[in-house]
Amino acid sequence: MINAALHSHDVPREATGGTATTSRSSSAAVGTARHLEERRASAREGGGPGRIERQRAQGKGTARERIEALLDPGTFAEVGMFITHRATGFGMESSYPAGDGVITGSGMIDGRPVCIFAQDFTVLGGSVGEAHGRKIARIIELAHRTGVPLIGLNDSGGARIQEGVDALAAYGEVFYQNVQASGVIPQISVIMGPCAGGAVYSPAVTDFVVMVAQTAHMFITGPEVIRAVTHEEVGFEALGGAAVHGEVSGVAHFTAKDEEAALAQVRWLLSYLPQNNLDTPPHIALGDDPCRVTAELDEIAAENHQHPYDVRAAIEILVDDGEFLEVQAGYAQNLVVGFARLDGNTVGIVANQPEVLAGVLDINASDKGARFIRFCDAFHIPLLTLVDTPGFLPGVDQEHGGIIRHGAKLLYAYAEATVPKVSLILRKAYGGAYIVMSSKHLRGDMAYAWPHAEIAVMGPEGAVRIVFKKELAQAEKPGETRDALVCSYREEAANPFIAASRGYLDDVIQPGESRARIIASFALLRAKREAAPKRKHGNIPL
Ligand code: HXC
Repeated sequence: MINAALHSHDVPREATGGTATTSRSSSAAVGTARHLEERRASAREGGGPGRIERQRAQGKGTARERIEALLDPGTFAEVGMFITHRATGFGMESSYPAGDGVITGSGMIDGRPVCIFAQDFTVLGGSVGEAHGRKIARIIELAHRTGVPLIGLNDSGGARIQEGVDALAAYGEVFYQNVQASGVIPQISVIMGPCAGGAVYSPAVTDFVVMVAQTAHMFITGPEVIRAVTHEEVGFEALGGAAVHGEVSGVAHFTAKDEEAALAQVRWLLSYLPQNNLDTPPHIALGDDPCRVTAELDEIAAENHQHPYDVRAAIEILVDDGEFLEVQAGYAQNLVVGFARLDGNTVGIVANQPEVLAGVLDINASDKGARFIRFCDAFHIPLLTLVDTPGFLPGVDQEHGGIIRHGAKLLYAYAEATVPKVSLILRKAYGGAYIVMSSKHLRGDMAYAWPHAEIAVMGPEGAVRIVFKKELAQAEKPGETRDALVCSYREEAANPFIAASRGYLDDVIQPGESRARIIASFALLRAKREAAPKRKHGNIPL
């Protein structure tokens, strides 16, 4: 049965809508300019008009169109155009598509060099054989060696079944190069079609995954295997579509409505990032006054301690021109992370989101925050932390799911990060979350709070219930007594001046002063040097 399917490749390409791209032949003599141009033209045809038509019918562009759309016009320089597979059996010897189903090379984005690969689904389903995988591994290695970002446009049926273990070996090389380049160059994966089986692990190792709605699907095992093994019925979209990975699994950092939007997202993201770990992020002055008074912040985190608000509104007031690129916007929404500029310089922002679950820290938020902080730390991106959280989320699910282990990642990431770290407590900072969220105890460089901030072991209501248990039990009017105790606890114990008097906060500031103080702090910290202890690597609780 399997063999019968595989032997369908014995049919010459021409018979299945393919073109002469699949053969090594050319009508001109080798060595002539015409011969070269014919070979080039042939390679550029990919899988031929029939398969390209099918690609378009699915709302997908071709690999070359995608590269053109992403890069600055006319900057793409291809390498490996004439690489072919050398497989035999299952009909593979009947065609040798030039490039082996993946286009690799370099180009510019906003005038800065990048390396790129784009899988061509029209050629053998973009499947990864020995030559295809090696091309990807080489372009990653080239990006690593030259210190430029790597962008992968993924659209593939996975390991090329006909090439067996050679395909698996090639994948292994890709994964290895991804891992070696991790923390040295930014790596971005754009998923623009299927990304199935072990193939998902290359994007998963990279720093950011962008998925296109409806056409991108990522999964380890597809619907059919799942049906056979677990008897669950699920379609491609519900299993591994952009919405699922953007909101449920957290695999996708960005989702885009179409390919154009996905590629625009990559360009926007790169505008915040340095080229490599020895470079500094680009300075882009937008003309926003660094001393701008941010009095509107007064209304956002109002003195009402229970009032939910969208922390992104606060971020937009603080940062240059209100421009904020949120990462993983649909996942673990109780924590907001993303990139912005302050006085033209990139900052990574981590902020509790009072609008969702009151801004608690849970398993997913801890994972999301930790990964983002580690990315910023690897690439010299200073961290601004906006704190408003009642603490870690209570519950059996959270405990059994390992909130201890996951919460520890966030703590670890903050403590380990040596980039400039500035924090501002907007309202609540209770318990372990106070310590974790970039406190000075974890080597936060500068810590500020607004005047009505509450810093305490726990919220006033919980604290009063425990500390004044006997008084409340004996009170004639327990409700009134409790309210009075809560009020006095809030005034005496849960204000920012106790922390400020210990030096745990550098200052208590007015909301309106926030932008200027934060920018001044980062300016001071720009040349900060903090050496990490000498060791092979730490052991983050994964
Ligand atoms: C060889 C493949 C292929 C593959 C697709 N094709 N996947 N050829 N190896 N893995 C070929 C098809 O034979 C077909 O060739 C062309 O690509 C288009 O495929 P279609 O099936 O016609 O396209 P479509 O209907 O859009 O379906 C796309 C698909 C499906 C969902 C991706 O092709 C599919 O399920 N493929 C197999 C996916 C998979 O299980 N891969 C292995 C995962 S395991 P023609 O000549 O007809 O155009 C894995 C292990 C990696 O990857 C481990 C790494 C550690």
